Amino acid sequence: MATIPKDQIEEIRFQCNIVDVVGSYLPTLKRMGSTFKCNCPFHQEKTPSFTVNDKMQIFHCFGCQAGGDVFKFVMEYEKVDFVTAVKILADRAGIELRYEGGATENKNEKDVLYKIHQDAAMFYHRMLMDSPEGAEARRYLEERELPPEILKEFLVGFAPNEWDGLMNKALEKGYKAEQLEAAGLVVPSDRNGKKSHYDRFRNRVMFSICDQMGRVIGFSGRIMNAAEKGAKYVNSPETLLFKKNRVLFAFDKARKDIVEARTAIVVEGQIDAIRCHEAGIRNVVASQGTALTENHARLLKRYADEIVLVLDADAAGVKAALASSAIFLSTELSVRVVTLPEKEDPDSLIRTQGTEIFRQLVAEAQSALDYLIDRRGGEENMDSDAGKMRVVKETLALINHCQSAARRDQMLQRAAERLGISIQALGQDMRRSKQQTRTPAPRRTEEPVKPPHVPKNHPKEETSLLELLVHYYPEVKPLVHDHLPLHCLVDPVCRHLVDQLMLDEPDVLTEQLHDFDEETQRVIIKVRMEECRKIDEETTSVELAQQYILLLWRKTLERKAAALGQDAALAAEERFREGTRLKHDISVLKKGWTHALPLVETLAEPPADGF
Ligand code: CTP
Ligand code: MN
Repeated sequence: MATIPKDQIEEIRFQCNIVDVVGSYLPTLKRMGSTFKCNCPFHQEKTPSFTVNDKMQIFHCFGCQAGGDVFKFVMEYEKVDFVTAVKILADRAGIELRYEGGATENKNEKDVLYKIHQDAAMFYHRMLMDSPEGAEARRYLEERELPPEILKEFLVGFAPNEWDGLMNKALEKGYKAEQLEAAGLVVPSDRNGKKSHYDRFRNRVMFSICDQMGRVIGFSGRIMNAAEKGAKYVNSPETLLFKKNRVLFAFDKARKDIVEARTAIVVEGQIDAIRCHEAGIRNVVASQGTALTENHARLLKRYADEIVLVLDADAAGVKAALASSAIFLSTELSVRVVTLPEKEDPDSLIRTQGTEIFRQLVAEAQSALDYLIDRRGGEENMDSDAGKMRVVKETLALINHCQSAARRDQMLQRAAERLGISIQALGQDMRRSKQQTRTPAPRRTEEPVKPPHVPKNHPKEETSLLELLVHYYPEVKPLVHDHLPLHCLVDPVCRHLVDQLMLDEPDVLTEQLHDFDEETQRVIIKVRMEECRKIDEETTSVELAQQYILLLWRKTLERKAAALGQDAALAAEERFREGTRLKHDISVLKKGWTHALPLVETLAEPPADGF
């Protein structure tokens, strides 16, 4: 399997401070003493028990026991695997990943698809820029005032009016028809029982759709002549590379500007996005006419705090704007909405009225809340009780999408002002409506995200000993090393960790956290973060460790005694003798360290070889 080199993972960990990363997902994260705290995103709670430790670069929730390093946090929060979490963070840190080792089948297949898409995009682009067949498309784009430089930057192209224009070129290059089909570029047909393929995109202006890294992963093809039959746009189907609900057109080109502005402008059409970029407004992405999803929101959330939606002014546009607002709000993004003059889209507006007008509309965009009240209020008769109540209900539903209580409160105040209803009454209704909406499949973000795991129980005396070892390593390690053989620990995770700590210092555990399995990681985080409360002036760490060592020995001998009763091979007399001895030893262990030490020393001694 292809792997990401260890040094790169370390580099990413170094570059991505966990406080910054968690803070960008959870804006309420605040410093409290030596750590950072906020409400846990993995379970519902009222007082923060979610803790991020800057020094150790780990997080831990004392409530639901979630915990781990920065990679783990991204895995849990984004619900992705380790490699994807590494990619997300690499992306954030601007680190380009190198893979090493043998490629997996899937990776090979993906690599071929990337190559095909890149080649196809270049083919379409060349057709547009300098082929005789491209003349009409060139004229069309010229009329739409898209200059060659921007066509080049966005790899705009032209698919010739043939059934096999692209296919023939690709077959010549050595690609197989099946690979082109997997890329969605050709469509299989089955005429008279004979299997063949034909080009999906014919006689269309082609927009290359790129992923976050700028690799072409799909296409959208527009007809040039409204009179022509067929859909206005033909898009790539879902493929191994192209997932419509994840990709945002122009994101790769907009990311830098989105980060700088902390704001992303979302328009509908590819041409709208290209127009904005061309006009120098570069923090713009296009949804490409599809509904915005939580995936889109999470992608943008990594780089932006605020979204400005620029959708059509028609009824469908309003509906889409409201639905998208809810999704962005539930991802803790601020949302503002631009209302365009009727019959205009960003492209036509910028072209006919200039860039400044567009900039101004963006600057003056109203909050999603105001937008809803204005739009829905305009449709309903606000003098009628029923009409107004419908708007109130929708307003509360929108506010309810926010996870942050502060944001909800702020929105409630504004809604109270705008609707002429007291904030107390609105608040009451909101709490009630929240209870009601709980039952019928609430939005993912409304319900608390499930804790990532059900904590397993580990014996208290074993985790406590681990805690001591980790926090008071220099003085506790020799004690454990000399007096507690590993077999006294029954819990495999604790045993493994104690074993590890006999070789390595505690810091190594957190530094190499992702090398451990999930449950072990959890225990590491828990013991690192949890305070050893029992230590005070009266009981030192050493004394406490001694107590636990004795307790663990006692448990070991008690288990032996219990097993004795089960051992049928043993003669009754022997069983009795052994039982008495164990009982005596256990009573000695109860007498405290000084009394028990000689016994512990003989017990801990490995059985002599020979005779
Ligand atoms: N779209 C689509 N399929 C369609 C119509 C639209 O995929 N049949 C997507 C395209 O991504 C398009 C976006 O929805 O860019 C917005 O559609 P529309 O407003 O109709 O197109 P415009 O981008 O404005 O295109 P144009 O300005 O060329 O009319
Ligand atoms: Mn348009």
